[in-house]
Amino acid sequence: MMENARILCLDDSVIELEILKHQLRGDKNRAYDVAFFTSPESAKEKILQNEYDVIILDYQLPGTTGLAIYDFIQTSSLNAKTPVIMMTGEGDEIIAVEAMKRGVFDYFVKGNINNHLFQRSIGYAIEKKDLTKKRGQVDAQRKIMQMKMVSQSKLVSMGEMAAGVAHEIFQPLSVIRGNLELMEMDLEGGEIKNSEWLGIFPVLYRNIDKIQTIVDHLKVFGRNSENQKMETAITYVLENVLFVWKQKFEQDGIRVIKEFAEDLPILFLEKGETEQVLMNLFQNAHDSLGKKDGEREILISAGIQTTPEMELWLEIKDNGNGIRKEHLDKIFEPFFTTKEGNQGMGLGLSVAYAVITSMGGNVDVKSEYGKYASFTLRFPEKLFIQQ
Ligand SMILES: Nc1ncnc2c1ncn2[C@@H]1O[C@H](COP(=O)(O)OP(=O)(O)OP(=O)(O)O)[C@@H](O)[C@H]1O
Ligand SMILES: [Mg+2]
Repeated sequence: MMENARILCLDDSVIELEILKHQLRGDKNRAYDVAFFTSPESAKEKILQNEYDVIILDYQLPGTTGLAIYDFIQTSSLNAKTPVIMMTGEGDEIIAVEAMKRGVFDYFVKGNINNHLFQRSIGYAIEKKDLTKKRGQVDAQRKIMQMKMVSQSKLVSMGEMAAGVAHEIFQPLSVIRGNLELMEMDLEGGEIKNSEWLGIFPVLYRNIDKIQTIVDHLKVFGRNSENQKMETAITYVLENVLFVWKQKFEQDGIRVIKEFAEDLPILFLEKGETEQVLMNLFQNAHDSLGKKDGEREILISAGIQTTPEMELWLEIKDNGNGIRKEHLDKIFEPFFTTKEGNQGMGLGLSVAYAVITSMGGNVDVKSEYGKYASFTLRFPEKLFIQQ
Protein backbone atom coordinates (compact mmCIF):
# COMPACT_ATOMS: atom_id res chain seq x y z
CA MET A 1 0.00 0.00 0.00
CA MET A 2 1.32 3.38 -0.94
CA GLU A 3 1.59 5.80 1.97
CA ASN A 4 -0.44 8.97 1.87
CA ALA A 5 1.55 11.94 0.65
CA ARG A 6 2.18 14.51 3.39
CA ILE A 7 1.41 18.07 2.40
CA LEU A 8 1.69 21.30 4.32
CA CYS A 9 -0.46 24.25 3.14
CA LEU A 10 0.01 27.79 4.37
CA ASP A 11 -2.55 30.40 3.38
CA ASP A 12 -3.87 33.18 5.61
CA SER A 13 -7.25 33.10 3.89
CA VAL A 14 -9.59 30.43 5.22
CA ILE A 15 -11.59 30.55 2.00
CA GLU A 16 -8.51 29.90 -0.11
CA LEU A 17 -7.65 26.98 2.15
CA GLU A 18 -11.13 25.56 1.61
CA ILE A 19 -10.64 25.79 -2.15
CA LEU A 20 -7.28 24.02 -1.84
CA LYS A 21 -8.85 21.29 0.28
CA HIS A 22 -11.50 20.80 -2.34
CA GLN A 23 -8.91 20.57 -5.09
CA LEU A 24 -6.81 18.05 -3.21
CA ARG A 25 -9.81 15.90 -2.29
CA GLY A 26 -10.82 15.79 -5.94
CA ASP A 27 -7.61 13.94 -6.81
CA LYS A 28 -8.54 10.37 -7.73
CA ASN A 29 -4.95 9.21 -8.15
CA ARG A 30 -3.60 9.90 -4.74
CA ALA A 31 -4.52 10.30 -1.10
CA TYR A 32 -3.05 13.08 0.98
CA ASP A 33 -2.56 13.90 4.64
CA VAL A 34 -2.78 17.65 4.60
CA ALA A 35 -1.84 20.01 7.42
CA PHE A 36 -3.44 23.41 6.88
CA PHE A 37 -2.13 26.59 8.49
CA THR A 38 -3.23 30.19 8.39
CA SER A 39 -0.41 31.49 10.58
CA PRO A 40 3.17 31.59 9.21
CA GLU A 41 4.61 31.07 12.69
CA SER A 42 2.78 27.81 13.38
CA ALA A 43 3.58 26.56 9.86
CA LYS A 44 7.27 27.32 10.44
CA GLU A 45 7.19 25.37 13.68
CA LYS A 46 5.79 22.30 11.89
CA ILE A 47 8.30 22.65 9.07
CA LEU A 48 11.06 22.28 11.66
CA GLN A 49 9.36 19.26 13.28
CA ASN A 50 8.06 17.12 10.39
CA GLU A 51 9.17 16.15 6.96
CA TYR A 52 6.65 16.84 4.16
CA ASP A 53 6.45 15.59 0.59
CA VAL A 54 5.17 18.91 -0.76
CA ILE A 55 4.72 22.36 0.75
CA ILE A 56 2.18 24.77 -0.71
CA LEU A 57 2.66 28.44 0.17
CA ASP A 58 0.58 31.50 -0.44
CA TYR A 59 2.77 34.39 -1.61
CA GLN A 60 0.97 37.20 0.25
CA LEU A 61 1.10 36.45 3.97
CA PRO A 62 0.59 38.63 7.02
CA GLY A 63 3.89 40.29 7.87
CA THR A 64 5.88 38.13 5.48
CA THR A 65 5.89 36.57 2.00
CA GLY A 66 5.86 33.06 0.62
CA LEU A 67 9.40 33.67 -0.66
CA ALA A 68 10.66 34.48 2.84
CA ILE A 69 9.06 31.25 4.09
CA TYR A 70 10.64 29.45 1.13
CA ASP A 71 14.08 30.75 2.23
CA PHE A 72 13.33 29.59 5.75
CA ILE A 73 12.48 26.10 4.44
CA GLN A 74 15.85 25.96 2.67
CA THR A 75 17.59 26.29 6.03
CA SER A 76 15.56 23.53 7.71
CA SER A 77 17.19 20.14 7.91
CA LEU A 78 14.01 18.12 7.32
CA ASN A 79 12.49 20.05 4.44
CA ALA A 80 15.35 21.74 2.57
CA LYS A 81 14.75 19.28 -0.29
CA THR A 82 10.94 19.37 -0.19
CA PRO A 83 9.39 20.78 -3.37
CA VAL A 84 7.51 24.02 -2.77
CA ILE A 85 4.53 25.19 -4.80
CA MET A 86 3.74 28.91 -4.64
CA MET A 87 0.26 30.38 -4.98
CA THR A 88 0.31 33.96 -6.25
CA GLY A 89 -2.34 36.56 -6.88
CA GLU A 90 -3.35 37.63 -10.36
CA GLY A 91 -0.78 39.95 -11.95
CA ASP A 92 1.98 38.47 -9.79
CA GLU A 93 3.56 36.49 -12.61
CA ILE A 94 6.83 38.40 -12.27
CA ILE A 95 7.03 37.35 -8.64
CA ALA A 96 6.20 33.82 -9.69
CA VAL A 97 9.03 33.79 -12.24
CA GLU A 98 11.41 35.17 -9.59
CA ALA A 99 10.27 32.38 -7.26
CA MET A 100 10.98 29.77 -9.94
CA LYS A 101 14.45 31.24 -10.43
CA ARG A 102 15.09 30.86 -6.71
CA GLY A 103 14.21 27.17 -6.98
CA VAL A 104 10.49 27.03 -6.19
CA PHE A 105 9.14 23.89 -7.88
CA ASP A 106 6.01 25.36 -9.48
CA TYR A 107 3.48 28.16 -9.11
CA PHE A 108 -0.22 28.73 -9.65
CA VAL A 109 -2.18 31.93 -10.02
CA LYS A 110 -5.12 31.94 -7.60
CA GLY A 111 -8.60 32.12 -8.96
CA ASN A 112 -7.41 30.62 -12.19
CA ILE A 113 -6.35 27.13 -11.18
CA ASN A 114 -6.99 24.21 -13.42
CA ASN A 115 -7.61 21.27 -11.10
CA HIS A 116 -6.02 18.77 -13.42
CA LEU A 117 -2.80 20.79 -13.83
CA PHE A 118 -2.67 21.48 -10.12
CA GLN A 119 -2.99 17.81 -9.19
CA ARG A 120 -0.47 16.86 -11.82
CA SER A 121 2.03 19.39 -10.49
CA ILE A 122 1.64 17.90 -7.02
CA GLY A 123 2.19 14.48 -8.56
CA TYR A 124 5.45 15.65 -10.16
CA ALA A 125 6.50 17.26 -6.89
CA ILE A 126 5.98 13.99 -5.03
CA GLU A 127 7.96 12.09 -7.67
CA LYS A 128 10.74 14.62 -7.25
CA LYS A 129 10.77 14.16 -3.51
CA ASP A 130 10.94 10.37 -3.98
CA LEU A 131 13.91 10.79 -6.29
CA THR A 132 15.63 13.03 -3.75
CA LYS A 133 15.13 10.38 -1.10
CA LYS A 134 16.52 7.68 -3.35
CA ARG A 135 19.51 9.88 -3.94
CA GLY A 136 19.93 10.19 -0.18
CA GLN A 137 19.96 6.39 0.03
CA VAL A 138 22.61 6.26 -2.68
CA ASP A 139 24.69 8.75 -0.65
CA ALA A 140 24.34 6.58 2.44
CA GLN A 141 25.30 3.45 0.52
CA ARG A 142 28.32 5.24 -0.85
CA LYS A 143 29.50 6.20 2.63
CA ILE A 144 29.26 2.58 3.76
CA MET A 145 31.22 1.53 0.71
CA GLN A 146 33.95 4.02 1.46
CA MET A 147 34.14 2.72 5.01
CA LYS A 148 34.73 -0.74 3.63
CA MET A 149 37.61 0.73 1.65
CA VAL A 150 36.20 -0.35 -1.66
CA SER A 151 38.30 1.42 -4.24
CA GLN A 152 36.52 4.11 -6.18
CA SER A 153 36.47 2.68 -9.67
CA LYS A 154 35.18 4.54 -12.66
CA LEU A 155 32.13 2.29 -12.59
CA VAL A 156 31.22 3.32 -9.05
CA SER A 157 31.48 7.00 -9.87
CA MET A 158 29.32 6.41 -12.89
CA GLY A 159 26.64 4.78 -10.76
CA GLU A 160 26.68 7.73 -8.39
CA MET A 161 26.61 10.11 -11.28
CA ALA A 162 23.64 8.32 -12.80
CA ALA A 163 21.63 8.66 -9.59
CA GLY A 164 22.62 12.30 -9.19
CA VAL A 165 21.98 13.10 -12.83
CA ALA A 166 18.49 11.59 -12.77
CA HIS A 167 17.77 13.84 -9.82
CA GLU A 168 19.35 16.98 -11.23
CA ILE A 169 17.84 16.70 -14.69
CA PHE A 170 14.35 16.01 -13.38
CA GLN A 171 13.98 19.45 -11.84
CA PRO A 172 14.83 21.63 -14.89
CA LEU A 173 12.84 19.23 -17.05
CA SER A 174 9.74 19.57 -14.95
CA VAL A 175 10.10 23.36 -14.92
CA ILE A 176 10.31 23.32 -18.72
CA ARG A 177 7.42 20.90 -19.05
CA GLY A 178 5.22 22.82 -16.62
CA ASN A 179 5.85 26.14 -18.34
CA LEU A 180 5.26 24.73 -21.81
CA GLU A 181 1.98 23.19 -20.68
CA LEU A 182 0.80 26.48 -19.24
CA MET A 183 1.80 28.27 -22.43
CA GLU A 184 -0.03 25.71 -24.49
CA MET A 185 -3.20 26.43 -22.55
CA ASP A 186 -2.77 30.10 -23.32
CA LEU A 187 -2.39 29.62 -27.03
CA GLU A 188 -5.37 30.75 -29.00
CA GLY A 189 -5.49 30.64 -32.78
CA GLY A 190 -1.75 30.04 -32.86
CA GLU A 191 -0.93 33.22 -30.92
CA ILE A 192 0.17 33.69 -27.37
CA LYS A 193 -2.22 36.18 -25.82
CA ASN A 194 -0.37 37.19 -22.77
CA SER A 195 2.89 39.09 -23.31
CA GLU A 196 3.90 38.18 -19.74
CA TRP A 197 4.80 34.81 -21.14
CA LEU A 198 7.88 36.42 -22.73
CA GLY A 199 9.35 36.31 -19.24
CA ILE A 200 9.11 32.54 -19.37
CA PHE A 201 11.65 32.19 -22.17
CA PRO A 202 14.73 33.05 -20.10
CA VAL A 203 13.48 30.50 -17.56
CA LEU A 204 13.17 27.86 -20.27
CA TYR A 205 16.60 28.63 -21.75
CA ARG A 206 18.31 28.66 -18.38
CA ASN A 207 16.87 25.29 -17.51
CA ILE A 208 17.84 23.88 -20.90
CA ASP A 209 21.39 25.27 -20.40
CA LYS A 210 21.50 23.56 -17.04
CA ILE A 211 20.75 20.20 -18.64
CA GLN A 212 23.28 20.95 -21.40
CA THR A 213 26.01 21.61 -18.80
CA ILE A 214 25.31 18.30 -17.10
CA VAL A 215 25.41 16.46 -20.41
CA ASP A 216 28.69 18.16 -21.46
CA HIS A 217 30.36 17.18 -18.22
CA LEU A 218 29.10 13.63 -18.57
CA LYS A 219 30.71 13.10 -21.95
CA VAL A 220 33.97 12.57 -20.12
CA PHE A 221 32.52 9.53 -18.37
CA GLY A 222 31.21 7.86 -21.47
CA ARG A 223 34.41 7.92 -23.48
CA ASN A 224 36.76 5.00 -23.73
CA SER A 225 39.89 6.84 -22.76
CA GLU A 226 42.22 3.94 -23.63
CA ASN A 227 41.84 4.77 -27.31
CA GLN A 228 42.74 8.37 -26.98
CA LYS A 229 45.87 8.21 -24.89
CA MET A 230 49.04 9.81 -26.14
CA GLU A 231 52.57 10.63 -25.08
CA THR A 232 52.56 14.10 -23.70
CA ALA A 233 54.34 16.36 -21.23
CA ILE A 234 52.08 17.45 -18.39
CA THR A 235 53.57 20.95 -18.70
CA TYR A 236 52.44 21.04 -22.32
CA VAL A 237 48.85 20.16 -21.39
CA LEU A 238 49.02 22.75 -18.64
CA GLU A 239 50.28 25.51 -20.96
CA ASN A 240 47.41 24.76 -23.36
CA VAL A 241 44.89 25.26 -20.61
CA LEU A 242 46.65 28.33 -19.20
CA PHE A 243 46.57 29.84 -22.66
CA VAL A 244 42.77 29.74 -22.56
CA TRP A 245 42.72 31.34 -19.10
CA LYS A 246 45.56 33.84 -19.63
CA GLN A 247 43.45 36.83 -20.55
CA LYS A 248 40.85 36.27 -17.87
CA PHE A 249 43.51 35.88 -15.18
CA GLU A 250 45.25 39.11 -16.29
CA GLN A 251 41.98 40.97 -16.43
CA ASP A 252 41.10 39.90 -12.89
CA GLY A 253 44.54 40.66 -11.47
CA ILE A 254 45.49 37.04 -10.85
CA ARG A 255 49.22 36.32 -10.92
CA VAL A 256 50.29 32.87 -12.07
CA ILE A 257 53.57 31.50 -10.74
CA LYS A 258 55.11 28.31 -12.11
CA GLU A 259 57.72 26.15 -10.43
CA PHE A 260 58.49 22.97 -12.33
CA ALA A 261 61.21 20.49 -11.49
CA GLU A 262 63.56 19.72 -14.35
CA ASP A 263 63.40 16.53 -16.38
CA LEU A 264 59.82 15.64 -15.65
CA PRO A 265 58.95 12.39 -17.39
CA ILE A 266 56.69 12.33 -20.41
CA LEU A 267 53.35 10.73 -19.56
CA PHE A 268 51.05 8.44 -21.47
CA LEU A 269 47.62 9.93 -20.89
CA GLU A 270 44.37 11.10 -22.34
CA LYS A 271 45.13 14.70 -23.21
CA GLY A 272 41.55 15.96 -23.66
CA GLU A 273 40.38 14.61 -20.34
CA THR A 274 43.42 15.92 -18.51
CA GLU A 275 42.79 19.33 -20.05
CA GLN A 276 39.25 19.19 -18.76
CA VAL A 277 40.52 18.39 -15.25
CA LEU A 278 42.87 21.38 -15.31
CA MET A 279 40.14 23.61 -16.73
CA ASN A 280 37.92 22.66 -13.79
CA LEU A 281 40.68 23.32 -11.23
CA PHE A 282 41.48 26.73 -12.71
CA GLN A 283 37.80 27.58 -12.83
CA ASN A 284 37.52 26.84 -9.12
CA ALA A 285 40.68 28.81 -8.28
CA HIS A 286 39.39 31.72 -10.35
CA ASP A 287 35.98 31.63 -8.64
CA SER A 288 37.57 31.61 -5.22
CA LEU A 289 40.06 34.40 -6.01
CA GLY A 290 37.30 36.53 -7.51
CA LYS A 291 35.92 37.18 -4.03
CA LYS A 292 39.24 38.09 -2.48
CA ASP A 293 40.76 41.52 -1.82
CA GLY A 294 44.51 42.00 -2.04
CA GLU A 295 47.06 39.83 -3.84
CA ARG A 296 45.57 37.07 -5.95
CA GLU A 297 47.89 34.25 -6.81
CA ILE A 298 47.88 30.80 -8.33
CA LEU A 299 51.01 28.77 -7.75
CA ILE A 300 51.48 25.81 -10.08
CA SER A 301 54.25 23.42 -9.22
CA ALA A 302 55.25 19.97 -10.41
CA GLY A 303 57.83 17.43 -9.38
CA ILE A 304 58.69 13.82 -8.86
CA GLN A 305 58.17 11.97 -5.64
CA THR A 306 59.84 8.63 -5.03
CA THR A 307 58.36 7.47 -1.72
CA PRO A 308 56.18 5.70 -0.81
CA GLU A 309 55.59 5.27 -4.55
CA MET A 310 57.18 6.81 -7.58
CA GLU A 311 54.86 9.44 -9.02
CA LEU A 312 54.69 12.74 -10.82
CA TRP A 313 52.70 15.34 -8.90
CA LEU A 314 51.20 18.58 -10.10
CA GLU A 315 49.89 21.05 -7.55
CA ILE A 316 47.58 23.99 -8.19
CA LYS A 317 47.36 26.28 -5.19
CA ASP A 318 45.40 29.49 -4.94
CA ASN A 319 45.42 31.99 -2.10
CA GLY A 320 41.67 32.52 -2.30
CA ASN A 321 39.05 31.86 0.31
CA GLY A 322 39.91 28.23 0.89
CA ILE A 323 37.51 25.46 1.87
CA ARG A 324 35.71 25.04 5.18
CA LYS A 325 36.92 22.05 7.15
CA GLU A 326 33.46 20.47 7.23
CA HIS A 327 33.29 20.61 3.41
CA LEU A 328 36.63 18.95 2.73
CA ASP A 329 35.21 15.42 2.57
CA LYS A 330 32.25 16.49 0.43
CA ILE A 331 33.79 18.51 -2.39
CA PHE A 332 34.48 15.49 -4.63
CA GLU A 333 30.87 14.33 -4.45
CA PRO A 334 28.91 14.89 -7.63
CA PHE A 335 26.63 17.94 -7.30
CA PHE A 336 28.16 19.23 -4.09
CA THR A 337 28.54 22.97 -4.51
CA THR A 338 28.70 26.05 -2.31
CA LYS A 339 28.20 28.36 -5.28
CA GLU A 340 24.94 30.24 -5.28
CA GLY A 341 22.35 30.42 -8.02
CA ASN A 342 23.45 28.75 -11.20
CA GLN A 343 27.13 29.52 -10.76
CA GLY A 344 28.19 25.96 -10.09
CA MET A 345 26.79 22.52 -10.75
CA GLY A 346 29.14 20.83 -8.31
CA LEU A 347 30.55 18.61 -11.04
CA GLY A 348 34.07 19.98 -11.67
CA LEU A 349 35.90 18.10 -8.93
CA SER A 350 33.93 14.86 -9.26
CA VAL A 351 34.84 14.78 -12.95
CA ALA A 352 38.48 15.57 -12.08
CA TYR A 353 38.53 12.77 -9.53
CA ALA A 354 36.94 10.24 -11.88
CA VAL A 355 39.34 11.09 -14.71
CA ILE A 356 42.53 10.94 -12.63
CA THR A 357 41.61 7.81 -10.65
CA SER A 358 40.59 6.01 -13.84
CA MET A 359 44.22 6.46 -14.98
CA GLY A 360 45.39 4.91 -11.71
CA GLY A 361 46.30 8.28 -10.20
CA ASN A 362 44.90 10.29 -7.33
CA VAL A 363 43.78 13.77 -6.32
CA ASP A 364 44.58 15.32 -2.93
CA VAL A 365 43.22 18.48 -1.40
CA LYS A 366 44.69 20.70 1.29
CA SER A 367 43.20 23.91 2.52
CA GLU A 368 43.08 26.38 5.34
CA TYR A 369 39.83 28.28 5.34
CA GLY A 370 40.38 31.96 4.59
CA LYS A 371 43.95 31.34 3.38
CA TYR A 372 44.41 28.90 0.55
CA ALA A 373 43.21 25.83 -1.31
CA SER A 374 45.54 23.40 -3.04
CA PHE A 375 44.79 20.44 -5.28
CA THR A 376 47.48 17.92 -6.16
CA LEU A 377 47.14 15.53 -9.07
CA ARG A 378 49.24 12.40 -8.74
CA PHE A 379 50.23 10.39 -11.81
CA PRO A 380 51.64 6.91 -11.07
CA GLU A 381 54.83 5.51 -12.51
CA LYS A 382 52.96 3.18 -14.85
CA LEU A 383 52.04 6.24 -16.91
CA PHE A 384 55.71 7.32 -17.34
CA ILE A 385 57.24 6.87 -20.77
CA GLN A 386 60.77 5.47 -20.43
CA GLN A 387 63.26 7.63 -22.33
N1 LIG B 1 40.03 26.38 -5.26
C1 LIG B 1 38.97 26.35 -4.44
N2 LIG B 1 38.83 27.25 -3.44
C2 LIG B 1 37.78 27.22 -2.61
N3 LIG B 1 36.76 26.31 -2.68
C3 LIG B 1 36.84 25.39 -3.65
C4 LIG B 1 37.93 25.35 -4.58
N4 LIG B 1 37.74 24.31 -5.42
C5 LIG B 1 36.57 23.73 -5.05
N5 LIG B 1 36.03 24.38 -4.00
C6 LIG B 1 34.78 24.02 -3.28
O1 LIG B 1 34.36 22.74 -3.74
C7 LIG B 1 33.04 22.80 -4.28
C8 LIG B 1 32.88 21.78 -5.37
O2 LIG B 1 33.71 22.12 -6.49
P1 LIG B 1 33.29 21.60 -7.93
O3 LIG B 1 34.31 22.10 -8.90
O4 LIG B 1 33.07 20.13 -7.88
O5 LIG B 1 31.88 22.26 -8.17
P2 LIG B 1 31.52 23.80 -8.45
O6 LIG B 1 32.77 24.56 -8.80
O7 LIG B 1 30.73 24.28 -7.31
O8 LIG B 1 30.58 23.68 -9.74
P3 LIG B 1 31.08 23.29 -11.25
O9 LIG B 1 32.51 22.88 -11.18
O10 LIG B 1 30.18 22.18 -11.67
O11 LIG B 1 30.89 24.55 -12.02
C9 LIG B 1 32.87 24.25 -4.70
O12 LIG B 1 31.53 24.64 -4.74
C10 LIG B 1 33.66 24.98 -3.62
O13 LIG B 1 32.91 25.11 -2.43
MG1 LIG C 1 34.09 23.83 -10.23
